[in-house]
Amino acid sequence: MNTQDQLKKAVGEKAALLVEDGMKVGIGFGSTVYWFVRALGERVKQEGLDIKGIPSSILTGEWAKEFGVPLTDFATTKELDITIDGSDEVDPDFQLIKGGGAALFREKIIAQAAKKLVIIVDDSKMVEHLGAFALPVEILQFAWERTAYEIEKLGCTPVLRLKDGEPLITDNGNYIVDCSFEKIKDPADLDRKLQSIVGVVETGLFIDMADTIIIGGSEGITIKEK
Ligand code: A5P
Repeated sequence: MNTQDQLKKAVGEKAALLVEDGMKVGIGFGSTVYWFVRALGERVKQEGLDIKGIPSSILTGEWAKEFGVPLTDFATTKELDITIDGSDEVDPDFQLIKGGGAALFREKIIAQAAKKLVIIVDDSKMVEHLGAFALPVEILQFAWERTAYEIEKLGCTPVLRLKDGEPLITDNGNYIVDCSFEKIKDPADLDRKLQSIVGVVETGLFIDMADTIIIGGSEGITIKEK
């Protein structure tokens, strides 16, 4: 395992300790969250924790089953106690770019549903300004070129995300365009403008949602609270 993976594992395991008996837990997606799900499953087995998770992707749900994390859904549970998720970038105001794994829509649902959103990252994700990571935007397949054209007017070149040479289809049946803005001066304003475009389903900008950031670095783990 390389150093970055070790950091992801360390923060994933740390986050698993935040889950308490009886909690409803939103479970994000990504290579960092993988370690969280593993560690949480271990706690369920060892301590008999009575918890229920709601996954943000089909793959997260498969990990939960594999590692023994019991699941529920929004038909039975409307609010979550805590959501744990990764991120592609985190700025000093706790604003996030997410969606590198194409799960941003469901991730935002479980983020909004939770009393507390905890983000787990290695220190390479901490940035002064969002935008070096191309912003993922989920858009409808219908007239996607037209939607991308409107997005382009905001100052980027949207690139349709491909998988195996074909457009990637999200768990919700939509496309993703990755939009390189390089430096996003006002993330909240950009999010509002993107959301107002017909055809945009959701953006990877998570504005004023994160409460806690758990950061893994060479000096150990740092926890930042808003
Ligand atoms: C998934 O859509 C993303 O939002 C992930 O949370 C993000 O890409 C971080 O992934 P890693 O933990 O794999 O870096």
